[in-house]
Amino acid sequence: MERRFEGKVALVTGATNGIGQATAVRLAAEGAIVAVNQRPTGDPAETLRRIEEAGGQGFPVIADMRDPEQVVAMVHAVAERAGRLDCVVSNAAINPFMKWDETSVEDFDCLFETNVRGTWMVCTESAKQMIREGHGGAICCVSSISAHVGARHPGERRRAGLGPHEHERADDGRPGRREVLHRPHPDPPGGRASGTRRHDRLRALRRCQLRDLRDLAGRWRLHRECRAVGGSMPDYAHILQAANERVRHQYGDAVGRRRDELITPALVLDIDAAQRNIDRMASELRQLGPTTIRPHYKTHKSPYLARRQLQAGAGGLSMATVWEAAVLAGAGMDDLFVVNTVSHPAKIRMLAELARDHRILVAVDEVPNAAALSAAATAAGSTLGIMAEVDTGMDRCGIDTADEALAVVRKIMDLPALRFEGITGYEGHCSLTPDNELRHERQRAAMKFFTGVAELLEANGIPCKIRSAGGIATWRWTAAYPGITEIQAGTYVVMDNFHGQMVPDFEHSLTIQATVISRQSDKVIVDAGNKSVADPEDVTIVGHDHKVFRFDEEHGIFAAPAGSRLKVGDSVALVPGYSPSTVNWYDAYHVVQQDVVVDIWPIIPRGPGHHGLAGPGAAHEAG
Ligand SMILES: Cc1ncc(COP(=O)(O)O)c(C=O)c1O
Repeated sequence: MERRFEGKVALVTGATNGIGQATAVRLAAEGAIVAVNQRPTGDPAETLRRIEEAGGQGFPVIADMRDPEQVVAMVHAVAERAGRLDCVVSNAAINPFMKWDETSVEDFDCLFETNVRGTWMVCTESAKQMIREGHGGAICCVSSISAHVGARHPGERRRAGLGPHEHERADDGRPGRREVLHRPHPDPPGGRASGTRRHDRLRALRRCQLRDLRDLAGRWRLHRECRAVGGSMPDYAHILQAANERVRHQYGDAVGRRRDELITPALVLDIDAAQRNIDRMASELRQLGPTTIRPHYKTHKSPYLARRQLQAGAGGLSMATVWEAAVLAGAGMDDLFVVNTVSHPAKIRMLAELARDHRILVAVDEVPNAAALSAAATAAGSTLGIMAEVDTGMDRCGIDTADEALAVVRKIMDLPALRFEGITGYEGHCSLTPDNELRHERQRAAMKFFTGVAELLEANGIPCKIRSAGGIATWRWTAAYPGITEIQAGTYVVMDNFHGQMVPDFEHSLTIQATVISRQSDKVIVDAGNKSVADPEDVTIVGHDHKVFRFDEEHGIFAAPAGSRLKVGDSVALVPGYSPSTVNWYDAYHVVQQDVVVDIWPIIPRGPGHHGLAGPGAAHEAG
């Protein structure tokens, strides 16, 4: 069969039987990866079996079309799992055999919610996703409300916009095998519906011409809208999908293996422990008060983990680079705060373009930089959210005094295409103070200054809606500090020894699997050196009390205490000293449950490069 849909991703709703099933199987047979929608009570097994039999790929997605939240989550889940969305077949039939004279008000409400509102939801959410992804797409609606109930009379059929064959259902998707459910009588009692004659008088040729013209106009309008929304933006969703495919191709053999059978060094994520960390943070924050979390993405660089954080209640995401923002936008996430000042023109342009259909916030600590952001957003037709960065003691970016902050913010408020949102002031210097008391004292001083800036702005009539600060080392104190609205902690999901010494409440879900390569009388040497694990002085071996002796590039050298059981060939799990930089070394997570690999997730974007996210011609934008 021709593989016309190779590389495309399709979502088919109501795909567990009938025309939805046939469509899903046919799309998969022609190369599309098909998301098979089922109601919570439905069973997709038969459709998936037929897809597999046809040599295609499919996966189930659960959603009840009547629940808007489930529809939104379904569209996001498809894009996240398959990396993109190209085609939607909204097959919203709930009961194809319902009859007018047997339909109750409840039936009607159900029909309406599923077939009308549900269809509208699926179509708009999918269209939004396709626009975000920056490529075209196809949306096709099939619905029983018109196909069966409303089609008994030719006039009704025409008003429902149907042609002569819409009531035929191809149950197996094979040409020539059609089950006719209903075909209107050629000459129904009571004569033809008004308007039919005029319709019939249109000559076939003219009808064709009109249809072609309409198609052309539709395509042109779509093209124009895509250009307006997408500009020359690269295809981020494609980059995510490519990363998914690449790592699954490269490391997929590991799925089903125990972690101690992995080729080492390998980055391992215990997903249940990570989820417990996510849930723990969410529930403790709720108990503490109104402060929310906008978790920092740089720690794990996984859209899958970011999605789980949002599902647990995170209010948006923070990140260090615009490329991270682009990846998350491509993965269908929104409310993205680049907690960093950005000055390269290509990066500024990227932010401005992302802001066309995403809520994008960025840190600013001077007026000329704000002016550059304003010009880019004006050119892109977008609005950027601005967070004034205040230096709370870290000696990094940020305005030093409250008066200066007021002066800068006043000028920012006069610039077009910018929206002042609040202030940011990560107290990162505190995480360098392991002593609890001293760290708390420094955190209090930092937050006193920080909230003082917000108070001065508000006293001068400038609402300071967001006051964002707080890493993992100070998260609880900062979250509870009066006047703070959100914290930016990120490391809690995976943890590491550097942060774990200060905040022992979270599990080490991230480890590096390594193999012992040499065993000297007083040393154990593993095949993970300082190119495999960051902050080696804090690295530990799970279940073995061995202190680090030294780390070279490809050698992790531990002092072996008397009686050490480790020998050459043993597979061990290392807890990293510092997880954000450790993760950055790797292409992929080996995701484990109960020590068995269940999936491979890409680390994206890895390293400092733009991975093509900047788009064509970006290199010439420096001037
Ligand atoms: C701006 C900013 N916010 C927040 C964080 C918090 O991250 P973590 O949870 O690792 O402390 C960091 C870490 O470097 C950061 O740079």
